[in-house]
Amino acid sequence: MKFFVDTADLADIRDLAATGLLDGVTTNPSLIAKTGQKFADVIAQICEVVEGPVSAEVAATDHETMLAEGRRLAKIAPNVAVKVPLTVDGLKTCKKLSGEGTLVNVTLCFSPAQAILAAKAGAAFISPFVGRLDDIGHDGMDLIADIVQIYNQYDSMKTEVLVASIRHPRHLIDAAKMGAHVATLPPNVIRQLYNHPLTDKGLDAFLKDWAATGQSILDQ
Ligand code: E4P
Repeated sequence: MKFFVDTADLADIRDLAATGLLDGVTTNPSLIAKTGQKFADVIAQICEVVEGPVSAEVAATDHETMLAEGRRLAKIAPNVAVKVPLTVDGLKTCKKLSGEGTLVNVTLCFSPAQAILAAKAGAAFISPFVGRLDDIGHDGMDLIADIVQIYNQYDSMKTEVLVASIRHPRHLIDAAKMGAHVATLPPNVIRQLYNHPLTDKGLDAFLKDWAATGQSILDQ
């Protein structure tokens, strides 16, 4: 399973990339706005740090302008994945850009029917938003189960399920059990994955016992 980080914060991206466990980055207009910097510059800098796909979202809603924006974004770096919303114009743009060899991430997916359309439009990634479904009283993970099941029926559906709007480690674990290809996680959720109180407690005990031996491994 691939791990992407869902942020445009370069310090967080550098820090997480240094672990060697980061496979890509997703951004959206809200995350870009938080940086207060020029969009193209932010994406270019992220692409220098991370080799894997870096999603950059178009801002237009009509096909012609989305296509022009997508082509502009794709020129920033070879690993840019152009993100388009799941609308008629977004999917037309997806089909066109995918045909030109550009990676496309179709975002704001909230139903299995939408995910089928994205696959037919040649999307490299479909981004179902689990947390936002949970927020309105649905079970976001049901959507992931449906999409994974559907895509698995057809060899022709090459689109990767990129679980988005993840709020806590449980979302990630459930997505992994279902066989989702990618999860995009906020930096704080990635950091939570490492933690377990028994790990901390066990390490404390080992360190105390080791200190009592007075030994150093590097001196041996
Ligand atoms: C995914 O690409 C989106 O940027 C993101 O996961 C949305 O998450 P949110 O619902 O927490 O804003």
